[in-house]
Amino acid sequence: MEEKIAVYPGSFDPITYGHLDIIKRAIKIFDKVIVAVAHNYDKQSLFTPEEKIEMIQEEVKGYPTVSVDTFHGLLMEYMQKVKATVALRGLRATSDFEYEYHMAAMNRSLSDDIDTLFMMTGKDYFFISSRTIKEVASLGGPVAGLVPEHVARKLKQKFSQRHKG
Ligand code: PNS
Repeated sequence: MEEKIAVYPGSFDPITYGHLDIIKRAIKIFDKVIVAVAHNYDKQSLFTPEEKIEMIQEEVKGYPTVSVDTFHGLLMEYMQKVKATVALRGLRATSDFEYEYHMAAMNRSLSDDIDTLFMMTGKDYFFISSRTIKEVASLGGPVAGLVPEHVARKLKQKFSQRHKG
């Protein structure tokens, strides 16, 4: 039987416990999960794609069916290339829905063979987003418990470099 491959795409700037929760749930459903870091030209990222990949790899190294990759351009083209049939997205609150719905509809019109699967973020992670985490970290607030320790250290380093520079 053909392998069921899911792609979990995102900015991952940086990866949070909310993202990891989705990855751990997806492992139980799919033969392979590819965490795909998007090169977003229109978004101002704090971390480089290489830094994002390194942080994700550190967190998923214990899961043999998970790999980490990066993609340029259209998600649907990337998914066809890696033979994935499902795009995974986490939904935190209903406020995520509108944006996600439009993105899924656009992706469906680009590739009818690929489905978007929405997974509910775990109840402890409903309020977490990379954006708010960066804001708290940039102001010297604690982010332990929201992102892995390794990521919290990287955030601290990044903002102390910025304050010096
Ligand atoms: O973590 P994010 O920023 O919500 O992720 C958004 C992402 C990267 C999944 C989305 O912007 C994306 O798929 N970008 C690639 C370009 C693309 O395929 N666009 C068409 C769908 S609107």
